[in-house]
Amino acid sequence: MARSSASNIRLESSAAETYAAVRAAQLAGESVGLVPTMGALHEGHLSLVDASLAECDRTVVSVFVNPTQFGPGEDLASYPLVLEQDLRLLEERGCWLVFAPQAGEMYKPGHGTYVDVGSVATLYEGACRPTHFRGVATVVLKLLQIIPADRAYFGRKDYQQTLVIRKMVSDLNLPVEVRVSPIVREADGLAMSSRNAYLSESERQQGCLLWQSLKLAEKMYSEGETEVAAITKAMKERLASTEVEYIAFAAEGTMDEVTSIEGPTVVALAARVGKTRLIDNHTIG
Ligand code: PAF
Repeated sequence: MARSSASNIRLESSAAETYAAVRAAQLAGESVGLVPTMGALHEGHLSLVDASLAECDRTVVSVFVNPTQFGPGEDLASYPLVLEQDLRLLEERGCWLVFAPQAGEMYKPGHGTYVDVGSVATLYEGACRPTHFRGVATVVLKLLQIIPADRAYFGRKDYQQTLVIRKMVSDLNLPVEVRVSPIVREADGLAMSSRNAYLSESERQQGCLLWQSLKLAEKMYSEGETEVAAITKAMKERLASTEVEYIAFAAEGTMDEVTSIEGPTVVALAARVGKTRLIDNHTIG
């Protein structure tokens, strides 16, 4: 066990020691919540920590920038690393243990086993980032092996990711309850993301267009428009100064495309602002 220089929180980099600590807590009758993160924590992550603290005796946060979920040319090398700051925030919040492994602890030389959850991972985000969900599912399974938590907490901003994780948990009979918390937004509506740190002041204004376009979709629907084509066209116009990668309309809880809104429908989108790729979503109907 280590203590960080900036805080007293328990910090582990060893998978074996982390597993032993978690199992000891569980054998003593305590429930454990896991919040998997890639660090650079913001209020969105901390809302997941709060959800775990409210339901579980012990809260573990993993901080690991997972290389297998980044594709070639993506921002793996520049992803923000601020572990000491993260540790201070987690200590203040009341987190018990932080698991922050080196890449070699998670992926031994010759690592060759990956989790492929099938069709839910192939559309939209999966189409834009073909190996992304394979990397996410693999690392989340590995984290749940190291930290066999009673509950695991994820943010709704990564809507498709939550479906991928629920599918993996169901398909592989993993003994963990998946919890999903609402998106946390900045005052101007921008969904909180570690990647927002990349945005310049003017890009930040453009970033807000994602939420504005989702609110526009909601307004059009509330005024009687149910055709996805018409709403998508208006959203694209609102997003004209960004580079839209996709706008998806899917039945809530699925990635099943709909062409008209007849029940709860999640509108999910990805757009580039300068070099930064942003995602967001909102349920209407
Ligand atoms: O949502 C994230 O930050 C990551 O995809 C996760 C779940 C921590 C896996 O690396």
